[in-house]
This record gives sequence, structure tokens and C-alpha cells, in this order.
Amino acid sequence: MSDRLYIFDTTLRDGEQVPGCQLNTVEKIQIAKQLEQLGVDVIEAGFPVSSPGDFNSIIEISKAVTWPTICALTRAVEKDIDVAAESLKYAKRKRIHTGIGTSDSHIKYKFNSTREEIIETAVRAVKYAKRYVEDVEFYAEDAGRTDNEYLARVIEAVIKAGATVVNIPDTTGYCLPEEYGAKIRYLMEHVDGIEKAQISTHCHNDLGMATANTLQGVLNGARQVEVTINGIGERAGNTSLEEIAMILKCHKGINVETNINTTKIYPTSRMVSSLMNMPIQPNKAIVGRNAFAHSSGIHQNGVLKNAQTYEIMDPKDVGLDENAIVLTARSGRAALKYRLHVNGIETDEEKLDRIYEQFLQFADKKKEVTDDDILMLAGADTADIHAVKLDYLQVTTGKGVKSVASIGLDISGQKFEEASSGNGPVDAAIKALKRIISKQMTLKEFTIQAISKGSDDVGKVHMQVEYGGSVYYGFGANTDIVTASVEAYIDCINKFRE
Ligand code: KIV
Ligand code: ZN
Repeated sequence: MSDRLYIFDTTLRDGEQVPGCQLNTVEKIQIAKQLEQLGVDVIEAGFPVSSPGDFNSIIEISKAVTWPTICALTRAVEKDIDVAAESLKYAKRKRIHTGIGTSDSHIKYKFNSTREEIIETAVRAVKYAKRYVEDVEFYAEDAGRTDNEYLARVIEAVIKAGATVVNIPDTTGYCLPEEYGAKIRYLMEHVDGIEKAQISTHCHNDLGMATANTLQGVLNGARQVEVTINGIGERAGNTSLEEIAMILKCHKGINVETNINTTKIYPTSRMVSSLMNMPIQPNKAIVGRNAFAHSSGIHQNGVLKNAQTYEIMDPKDVGLDENAIVLTARSGRAALKYRLHVNGIETDEEKLDRIYEQFLQFADKKKEVTDDDILMLAGADTADIHAVKLDYLQVTTGKGVKSVASIGLDISGQKFEEASSGNGPVDAAIKALKRIISKQMTLKEFTIQAISKGSDDVGKVHMQVEYGGSVYYGFGANTDIVTASVEAYIDCINKFRE
């Protein structure tokens, strides 16, 4: 019989720490429900003491999700643990994830402390968390660079204090695969009572070794892996869930099983990418646009004769629909509903009606509507809840003339209009917008994503706007790049905290 490996998804916590990828509570609930469908065992839903938004999301996710354990992150600080326990009050299964840095550099520079004091703080935190919940996970931050002998002492002490899971993060993504595997083996062999807890991996991808390190952890005895969808996360990201799930599915000899329904991987990946406005690199393993696309003649020839010649996985196993139909203006509501479903978006009739209406207008401008376009339209639908909406935009521009823009905004149901000239169409449009919204805001960064498929393709704009000492990230997508820019600016404004 194969061993069970538990999947701990931290897309909504470590994944969400990526600048510009912050989600609102409605979006987090949508992803949490999809993770439940995917079959993850634990959802790390946030760091509740860090913000009221995180706290509230954990409350709402706990209500919305039934099967997976909901986990809340804390530092080894009583206040954090109190808040985490409160945020988990509606969770059917709950876990507090507490911990502290254990490497010499964390002990010295971050805590100005000693090894012995760190063990005492760790034990105190676990015991304190145990007052609230049975299931307490302890993380030894920067375990990747922590001396193994000392790490074993910390882990032994927290298991004695009641930790049910011990997390060994390679926080900086520094370890080599053999080194990380040996660390897990060392703990398996040297920690008294290790059989009472589960060892968890948590690997970062700074040197591109997160998946290899996680796998080495599993091969050496870890039975929980901490992962994110599409490998998103701080800096170079975390281990990607889809890579670990498919490695274990393809390599039956490893003899470890997960509860992941791999056919839900593709829709989940698309949903996360679209809600977080984070494109997936085309050559990303498992979920990239090119992951199953054979372009060389030799490969195509082989695959047509027998897919196994060049394919180690069946695309259907990851939920990739080979017969993906490209929608056109003649496609009906049923076809649109099906493509939304394939991309992880479920709609009721009312929402479908709204998206279908936008789809028809869009399909008029662009002959073939792709999955990316559909996700963009579905994303735009959620914009309905925002206070500021773009009503209309008209721009006159060209060589040898000054650009002029007139803009109409709907702010909480009230209509406003303004016009301005500017140094180019985007400048004119944003100046007109700023005449309506007269706040002290500064555009810090403005990126237009390359249009790759044709002149009728959608342009995507990412923006950073500074307001009141904070920087806000916004996104817009439209076949008209000036409209996309204004929408990105409005997206920032809608996120302003007063
Ligand atoms: O990378 C890390 O060390 C973490 C911990 C907070 C678990 O994310
Ligand atoms: Zn991390």
C-alpha cells in the first residue's frame, strides 16, 4: 500500500504575498472553494493579525469550505495566536501555524536572542496555541540554513509541547536537493518522538530547486508538502502544487499518494492566474501554454502516430481540454458557460447573462475569443462591485496633433465628465480622470504586456499608483490599450484605503 502525502496549499497566504497579487475576500473564497474541489488537505488562508482583510477572509473561508483543514499563520507571539484562534472560530477543522526563526542569523540579527531562548519561546507558543486547538503546526523559519543538530533539539521540544506537524522551511531557497533530503532524514533519525508528528516541507524557489527539494523531503520521510498553485509566492515563489502532484502520479514507484483530483489542476491554475493578474510563463511545467504543445515536425509526427512517443502525461489528466473550442460572435451561451467552467469559473444565470452580453460586444471586435479573453471578461464582471467605474472614454490622437481625451466616470451611481489634453493619449485620459478624482496620487509604474497574437488582441496593463504613503497595484485589459490603462488606474483607485 502506498503512503498518503498531505497537501498543504498556501496560495492564499505565501502566494498572496506577491506584490500586486492581493485578492479581496470574495476572490479568496472563490479560490478556496476551488482548492476544496481540487482535493487539498489544508488551506492556509492567511496571517490574521497582519490585517483586518486577512482576518475577515479566514472567517469567510472557514464558513464557505467544509472538507479541508483551515490554517492560520502566526508568529510565536500570544497576541497573534489569540487573533488566529478567533479567526478560525467557524472552521470545521482548524490548525494554528506558529513558529520562529531558528538559523543563527535569524537568532542573532532578527531576534537578538540565543539558541536556548528561541527554544523556550517556541515551546511557549506551541503550548499557548494548544489551549485553543488540537492541531498545531510549528515552523522553524530558515530551517534550510539551520544547523541540523540544533534544529533537531528545537523540533523535539515542540513535539513534546504538542506540535502535530513540524514544518522545515527552506525560507531562502538555498538548499541543494541532497542537503534538504538529508536534513529531513536527520530529523527522522535523531528526534525522539518524531513518529508523533508529521514532517512538512516548505521550499522556496530562489535557485529553481523548490520542487526538487520538496521531492527529496518526501523521499526522506516528509508526509506533508506546502505548495502553491502555479508556484506563486514571494520572490521566485514556492513549490508548485501541480508539479508535485503530477510527479507522484507519473512516478508510481515513489509509492506515495495524494488526494488531488488532477483533472482540476488546469482550471484551478487559470483561476488563480486570472484573479491574481499573474500571467503563467508559457513554458511553465504542467500548466504553461506550451506545456503540451509540440512544435517541431519530428515531435508532431511522433505524437500523431502515438502520443506516448513524446508525452509523459495525458493532457486530460491535468484537465486540459484538447478539443478546446475558440468562441466567436456566433457562439451561444451554453458554449460560453462551458468554457467558463473549464477555466474554473462557475456562473449562475444572472452572471452568465452579464458576461455573455460583454462577450458579444467583445467578439464583435475580436474574431476569435480565447480562454484568456474569457477569463478577462469574467474578471471584469467582478468590477461591478467597485465604487468607481469607467462609463466612457473618447480619445483623439495622432501624429502632429495634441492628444485630447474626454472621460465619463460612474462613482457610486453618480455620473461625472471631464476632458483634458495631454502628452499622448494615455496622459490625456489620466489627466481627465484626475480632474474628476482630485486626490494626491502619483503613477509609479506602468507596464503594457506585449501583444503576441495579432493587432486585434487584448492589451494588458499593470500599474502602480502611490497614494497616502502606500503603493496600490492595478490591472486592466482591453483590446484598446488606452482604455486598458485607464481601467488599471481606476483599479488602483478602487483599492485606496482612506
Ligand atoms: O518561508 C517561510 O519560512 C514561511 C514560514 C512563515 C512558514 O513562509
Ligand atoms: Zn514561505
